[in-house]
Amino acid sequence: MELHKLDRYAKALIKEAGSKIRHSFSSELDIETKADANDLVTNIDKEIEQFFIERIRKDYIGHRILGEEGFGDDVKSLDGFIWMLDPIDGTMNFIHQQRNFAISLGIYQDGIGVLGYIYDVIHDELYSAQKGQGAYLNDERIPMLEPTTIPNAIIGMNASWVVPNHHIENEGLIRLVQDVRGIRSYGSAALELAYVSTGRIDAYMSMRLSPWDVAGGIVIATEVGAIATNLSGQPLKFLGQDTFLVARKGLHDSLLANYIALK
Ligand code: IPD
Ligand code: CA
Ligand code: CA
Repeated sequence: MELHKLDRYAKALIKEAGSKIRHSFSSELDIETKADANDLVTNIDKEIEQFFIERIRKDYIGHRILGEEGFGDDVKSLDGFIWMLDPIDGTMNFIHQQRNFAISLGIYQDGIGVLGYIYDVIHDELYSAQKGQGAYLNDERIPMLEPTTIPNAIIGMNASWVVPNHHIENEGLIRLVQDVRGIRSYGSAALELAYVSTGRIDAYMSMRLSPWDVAGGIVIATEVGAIATNLSGQPLKFLGQDTFLVARKGLHDSLLANYIALK
């Protein structure tokens, strides 16, 4: 498989999907809930996933698709080529704000991330990477990340983990909030990975993410020297939900050793 050709194809598809999303702003959204009242999905999430799947099935026979909205394949192993797609990451933002959402796509070959994309549709900013070839924001190469320290760091984290919860010892996170320079929460895991990759924030963590939220971003972040694991420090398996941590070197170890204790 020629990855350069696949890369050009994926980028064109993402741009076309982005333009469909932009055009959707002029029509009324059909909003439904999924697992709970705040887990939202719209007709556009579904239409965009179907758009990708139709094209990929026609042009890359044998490739499988793991998509959030469930129109793809029932993926139980990582053999061969798998497109891990979130048609809109940050659906709540998409509905409430019409910004701060992204298309998130990772293409994996036998479990290895070979191509990664995060498309900030509203800013027309495409973050992309091919394994071993560096990461780009549109046509500009993204520089490698320098190490940083906790007092100088801005951390991406949802405030709900700082109050008592079933997943993590919240005292550690209270100390973290006190020790770091700042905390941010953007409501799109994919964009938060893009921001770690470009140094706008220094780390991002979550208690529960799915493969399509992080598959593209991990390829990009890894190319600029960030480290991505689950919150136990183990590599992600991409076949179900897991905790998540991505950070600059140094910061990743220090967060795991001094602030994060899962229940
Ligand atoms: C969600 C966003 C959000 C994260 C959630 C994800 P969705 O994805 O990435 O930032 O906290 O865990 O499910 O539902 O908007 O695609
Ligand atoms: Ca998502
Ligand atoms: Ca989504």
